[in-house]
Amino acid sequence: MSSTKPESVINDKAPSATRRDTLSITDNRTGRQYELPIKNETVRALDLRPMKVNDEDFGLMGYDPAFTNTASCSSKITFIDGDKGILRYRGYSIEELAEKSTYIETAYLILYGELPDKSQLADWSYHVTHHTFIHESIKKFLDGFHYDAHPMGMLISTVAALSTFYPDAKDIFNPESRRKQTYRLIGKMPTLAAFAYRHSLGMPFVYPDNDLSYCGNFLNMLFRTTELKYRPNPTLERALDILFILHADHEQNCSSTAMRCVGSSHVDPYCATAAATAALYGPLHGGANEAVLRMLVEIGSINNVPAYIKRVKAGEKLLMGFGHRVYKNYDPRARIVKHIAYEVFDVMGKNPLIEIALECERIALEDDYFVSRRLYPNVDFYTGLIYQSMGFPMTMFPVLFAIPRTSGWIAQWEEMLLDPEQKISRPRQVYLGHDLRSYTPLDRRG
Ligand code: SDX
Repeated sequence: MSSTKPESVINDKAPSATRRDTLSITDNRTGRQYELPIKNETVRALDLRPMKVNDEDFGLMGYDPAFTNTASCSSKITFIDGDKGILRYRGYSIEELAEKSTYIETAYLILYGELPDKSQLADWSYHVTHHTFIHESIKKFLDGFHYDAHPMGMLISTVAALSTFYPDAKDIFNPESRRKQTYRLIGKMPTLAAFAYRHSLGMPFVYPDNDLSYCGNFLNMLFRTTELKYRPNPTLERALDILFILHADHEQNCSSTAMRCVGSSHVDPYCATAAATAALYGPLHGGANEAVLRMLVEIGSINNVPAYIKRVKAGEKLLMGFGHRVYKNYDPRARIVKHIAYEVFDVMGKNPLIEIALECERIALEDDYFVSRRLYPNVDFYTGLIYQSMGFPMTMFPVLFAIPRTSGWIAQWEEMLLDPEQKISRPRQVYLGHDLRSYTPLDRRG
């Protein structure tokens, strides 16, 4: 972190002998002094409200566009230390989970707070596996899309459509109902994704095979052709499983915030998940993995990298897959993804774009423009190279992000619902528009 003193510091007195976890504020407009309690390194924005000049004033608010320094909730699900490049789900390091766990086990951990024992894991796997089928009517929605419809548009629509098949999902404060919708959402996301992919190819849908693992079945629904029994390549199956672990949750990112905000109106979890999926679709968020590949294709050759970097530094382009609101160090997930890439290349052949990606990284990690802004590769920088090598079209990359993130979204949604401090999200604003003015008749305008 920067050692220079922030401008707002007016004197650097040594802390008093008796430390008090409070903030002393003087409102220089009135000379009044206030003492705000500090808890968990935060002050409550509502504690600013009493600070007024006139009694009829609304009172002070915090102003924080895009929530760059605002905690919207307290949570026990995921911990990130952006400076140290640390990511933990329920206290377990992402490195250890990627090495020793499976996605379906990690999803249980994220949702229920503890690693499952054998019977819990068997029960959890059984229920998710037996909720992979989707209502046959959903195929009619998919048939309505153009052949070149983006699969994220199809996924957002069909996830929302699930809410029309399961009206019991509105019973959001019934734990049994939430658990059933959780089975359905985690079980059906791969099916919806695979069906969208098959639709775009004009190929028949492949139904789930309950003998296969979560990722094995997903590969089956995507790639099975004439064989009676699909046998997933174990290296690709494990690579996808690890990628799903890495993408399972990431605390209060844009799509989780959408899940919490939309869910706070007490809508059903399918519509909230559709909103979260829509947020993830953006190229600044989960759509970045697709944007990275398009960028690497646009660069085209390692010799063109310096010219592209020059355009980035001129502010004409973003180096997609670089930078992060929280990580001001190497995204720990990107390190693991880079390792997986070579395991997939060993099976599928080396993706020639990797050389361009490595050159972008090499230059960026040395160049002061990126170093001074603490821009490092994030989770999206290398994942697209793997997905492309596995045979996925670029448009499927954000879909491959949405599937595993569904467990994180549901966990964040349920934590919000059960948090006594949470209510419907309704931020304030700073109004800078017109004051009261009278209506001007049409013939007197202009
Ligand atoms: C994900 O939040 C999460 O946890 C998200 C995620 C998850 O798991 O849910 O981790 C997944 O979304 C990863 C991020 C994927 N997006 C991209 O790779 C798109 C490219 N990255 C940028 O758009 C950007 O870095 C963001 C959106 C990721 C973060 O933006 P911030 O925190 O708002 O940072 P900023 O835009 O204020 O940038 C600070 C400075 C600016 O320069 P100055 O105005 O100070 O001169 O850094 C520059 C930016 O222009 N900058 C970049 C850059 N990212 C930031 N310059 C070039 N290329 C980039 N990628």
